[in-house]
Amino acid sequence: MKETQFLPRNYSSNIESGAVAWSSPSNIALVKYWGKKERQIPQNQSISFTLDACKTKTKLQFEKKGQSMDGFSFDVIFEGKKNEDFKPKIETFFKRIEAYLPFLRTYHFTIETSNTFPHSSGIASSASGMSALALCLVDVERQLIASDASLSEKERNIDEVDFVKKASFLARLGSGSACRSIEGDIVVWGKHEEIEGSSDLYGVRYPDEVHENFKDYHDTILLVDKGEKQVSSTVGHELMHGHPFAKERFGQAEENITKLKAILKSGDLKAFIALMESEALTLHAMMMTSMPYFILMKPNTLEIINKIWAFREQTGLHIGFTLDAGANVHVLYPKSEAKEIYEFISTVLVAYCQNGHYICDRIGFGACKL
Ligand code: PMV
Repeated sequence: MKETQFLPRNYSSNIESGAVAWSSPSNIALVKYWGKKERQIPQNQSISFTLDACKTKTKLQFEKKGQSMDGFSFDVIFEGKKNEDFKPKIETFFKRIEAYLPFLRTYHFTIETSNTFPHSSGIASSASGMSALALCLVDVERQLIASDASLSEKERNIDEVDFVKKASFLARLGSGSACRSIEGDIVVWGKHEEIEGSSDLYGVRYPDEVHENFKDYHDTILLVDKGEKQVSSTVGHELMHGHPFAKERFGQAEENITKLKAILKSGDLKAFIALMESEALTLHAMMMTSMPYFILMKPNTLEIINKIWAFREQTGLHIGFTLDAGANVHVLYPKSEAKEIYEFISTVLVAYCQNGHYICDRIGFGACKL
């Protein structure tokens, strides 16, 4: 599929005003996306679990603006208060997606948004935030198309599959990993020979067999450091250009998806943990070996990793971790062992969390209309 596929056919903006609202989840990558080409095309394939509790809820109101007003016009209200900080990112997003949504300059938008997780938790809200906004925007487009009497009945009806694909495509242009936060419990992004329907342009629901062991998988997010990251993902992705290990890393990610496909089918939890932890440490190894180099892990990140390894060795339970581009630790474990592992988290690992804070999450199934 080509990017031009997402250019809309002609439709008019007949609606004066309206509102739509969507809730979109965060996701945690098992095989990590790190490095991109132009227009947010990933250098390697990635795969993620969709989370259930960490969500962004966004309401988008739109109102036709005066003819004379050029440019984009929007206000952002974050958790009940007018917010200027998010505006530059949204302005950039609008510029990138304008060709695909021609009504963007026709309306004034009020974007009211909030997260179900604490704002200063170090949890990136860009995946859930950008996917919720993308869904709201394609929903507006759907309404405009449906109300355009000059179109045939067939043209006025947007297919659900196309709707979801376009939302993921647009979300990707806001923040790469956001394209994995639209639909499905396990999502693949990046063209991979062994994943049918996969694409560099949008995320797709993992289409192959998944063992019972991975159903309702748990993820407890240990908030080690709630501060702003010292190095943004944008800069990190950039540093993969000319990185001495880039080629090997991109090839490894592709192989890891093949390996994970077999693991998801067989239910081999040991192999799953080994692959997931290796991916997390490789991501951070890329950061430590770029030029300039940087470290996002904190002393307590390493304390937690060592405690997890010791507990696993001692109990034989299937507890494992992964990391995002930050210091927080995602502790992943199967539902069947949740009781014992949660006990360990809440009595031992909690001591390494900033102010003792952590968030209990589990696999979810994607975004929903509010
Ligand atoms: O979506 P971005 O540009 O913020 O990049 C996210 C990168 C990682 O979270 C580190 C990995 C991933 O695949 O989600």
